[in-house]
Amino acid sequence: MKYTVVPALNDEEFGEKAADVFLRALGSFEKTPSVVLPTGNTPLPFFAVLRERAQSQALRPFNSLQLDEYLGLPDGDARLFSRWLAHEVLDPLKISSRMIFNSAADPSEEVNRIKAWHALNGAMDLAVIGIGENGHVGFNEPGAKFDHRANIVTLSGQTIEANTSYGRGDVPRKAITLGIGDLRRAYETILLVRGERKAEILAKAMLGEVTTDIPASYLQQQPRLTIVADTAALSKMPRDIIFK
Ligand code: PGA
Repeated sequence: MKYTVVPALNDEEFGEKAADVFLRALGSFEKTPSVVLPTGNTPLPFFAVLRERAQSQALRPFNSLQLDEYLGLPDGDARLFSRWLAHEVLDPLKISSRMIFNSAADPSEEVNRIKAWHALNGAMDLAVIGIGENGHVGFNEPGAKFDHRANIVTLSGQTIEANTSYGRGDVPRKAITLGIGDLRRAYETILLVRGERKAEILAKAMLGEVTTDIPASYLQQQPRLTIVADTAALSKMPRDIIFK
């Protein structure tokens, strides 16, 4: 296994270490890098540290690419991932270059627009992602093909339940996501994982068979991968992999 694991004892350390890994990666690109950032609960301590650091130092600018979005929500809806990301990290870091999905647009036209954009602009430089308890990445649910590009998905019951827990009300059943085929082309990948409930799927994804049943298992084949995870999430990973 070629990936690096960065363990963290608690949320505070998780945020600091994720920010260190992220800022080091950002600084390694010659040109302004294109970066996918995740939404969800996992990255919140990481975003908090980025906001803090942005107050005392100039952070490297990047071009933000959206990973996924619900379909059918109007502009300004509190559930929009684009809005969540803007509020948590992009506005505070003054990142103005944003490739945003239009939730209210005609879905197939919007997917075509996103695909065309990615075809024109080439592979992303850095993908920062999380993992769902069912092994999803972005909204690539189990069964999603590894060569899929941006596409429309129907969310699984488990994902809808998990996302309803964000406390922003009911969530749509349909969404747009970049495909594993887009994420696999990233030059570098950072996987963020927090909490005991992710321990089993993390171990399965990284140690088991590479299979579309567990979309995140594609990560085993990424040439440059860093996993930043707390000790609870790492509890089912062998020590020799964590501390090699
Ligand atoms: P979470 O979501 O960070 O809220 O657990 C991650 C995901 O489902 O990808």
